[in-house]
Amino acid sequence: MQNSLLAKYSGAVPRYTSYPTAPHFHEGVDCGKYAQWLQAITAKERISLYLHIPYCDRLCWFCACHTKHTLKYEPIAIYLESLKKEIAAVGALVSRDATVTAVHFGGGSPTMLRHDDMIDLMATLRAAFRFADDVEISVEMDPNDLDEARYDALAAIGMTRASLGVQDFHPEVQKAINRIQTFEQTKSVVEAVRARGVRSVNCDILYGLPHQTEATVAETVKDILSLAPDRIALFGYAHVPWMKKHQTMIREDVLPGLEERFSQMSLAAAMLVEAGYEPVGIDHFALPTDSMAIAAREGRLRRNFQGYTDDAAEALIGLGASSIGQLPQGYVQNMPATGEYQRMADAGGLAAVRGVEVSQDDKLRRRVIEEIMCRFAVSFPDLRSEFGNAVDAIVEEARAFAQSNQDRICLIEDDRFVITEGGRPFARTIAAVFDSYLSTGKGRHSIAV
Ligand SMILES: C[S@@+](CC[C@H](N)C(=O)[O-])C[C@H]1O[C@@H](n2cnc3c(N)ncnc32)[C@H](O)[C@@H]1O
Ligand code: SF4
Repeated sequence: MQNSLLAKYSGAVPRYTSYPTAPHFHEGVDCGKYAQWLQAITAKERISLYLHIPYCDRLCWFCACHTKHTLKYEPIAIYLESLKKEIAAVGALVSRDATVTAVHFGGGSPTMLRHDDMIDLMATLRAAFRFADDVEISVEMDPNDLDEARYDALAAIGMTRASLGVQDFHPEVQKAINRIQTFEQTKSVVEAVRARGVRSVNCDILYGLPHQTEATVAETVKDILSLAPDRIALFGYAHVPWMKKHQTMIREDVLPGLEERFSQMSLAAAMLVEAGYEPVGIDHFALPTDSMAIAAREGRLRRNFQGYTDDAAEALIGLGASSIGQLPQGYVQNMPATGEYQRMADAGGLAAVRGVEVSQDDKLRRRVIEEIMCRFAVSFPDLRSEFGNAVDAIVEEARAFAQSNQDRICLIEDDRFVITEGGRPFARTIAAVFDSYLSTGKGRHSIAV
């Protein structure tokens, strides 16, 4: 990779887990509007629920998630009471005939929940919504949290997918990010969840962390491969200390530079492909038998707030502090501050504080951006069949960008806008070309590679 290309296309751009992106949410979408959107969910629609648990019993210095460090359980117990109230309030507005096809527990660390609380939370969800028989239940797991009672609770709620945070196994890297987690510990969690019927295991690994080199990344990838996870997410460390104060604990002089980040990412990707994993979107890899790889092959891969997904639900409902929902009318976000969220939920109502309604132009641009992020190509005829003549202007934008691009990161081929092999690492930057909000300058993002 030429350094000039890296420098040119690795500027700070959004991750495009939504369009419009979160900095463009506004207070015009409030609880009243959200209630109308929830009531409009029809009996035919599939619902995906996302529950946010904003607590961890360790604070990893690299972490950009919305979470709080606590060694006490009491704040979690109090939070769960509020969460259950919000579940009841949302459930009361949604048609009982709409079906929940997926539930995702994210955080933070949902694995901090005690056995009885996990079971109670699931019972609350089942009382508030109608569940499909084959509902997918996925849980983000901190391997540091697990014990037999928690494994049993996860089995009892019917967990089908587990996602483990790993990051890196090298001791010097772990020390620098304040996250100590041995390979043996990780292996025992993978084995335990598989023994309890989980059919898809994901591991998150990172490149671009302090002290990481190609050699340490290769070691971590080798170790991960020995566990044969069904999916692997390979994320670039997003260093955003202006947003996450604890990231200032990470010394910037030991962070790999842009070229080194790129080499680490390329090496890890090559090792995963060599081992039989299929690349999915910009940062996921899956065994050919995994549903995400199948969805990618069949053109069904999608991108939402949880990143890449094969979930086809029409309505994504976010529950808990800071959670974001995606409904046909637009996006909605709950109050991020936990205390304030609890006050709103305890009052018996919803906790939405901002969002954005999506216009027809937003939907068109969202489709283009999703196609770029998921399939590295945009078919103009497909776009036209969905949006009619409204696509003319965006087709012109795509043609003009491809034709003016001397670096061949994208081109026009058979009435399609295609990201070339060399352009794939810059998919976020290319997607940003079609983002009509970016020029308003709201939001500060992490680098694209
Ligand atoms: C909610 S955590 C995973 C579950 C659990 N809390 C744990 O850490 O094991 C979500 C994932 O986001 C990724 N992540 C967090 N902060 C990040 C950052 N600054 N840059 C890139 N990825 C990050 C990590 O790979 C992490 O595993
Ligand atoms: S990486 Fe996971 S365990 Fe660590 S602080 Fe972030 S959410 Fe919590």
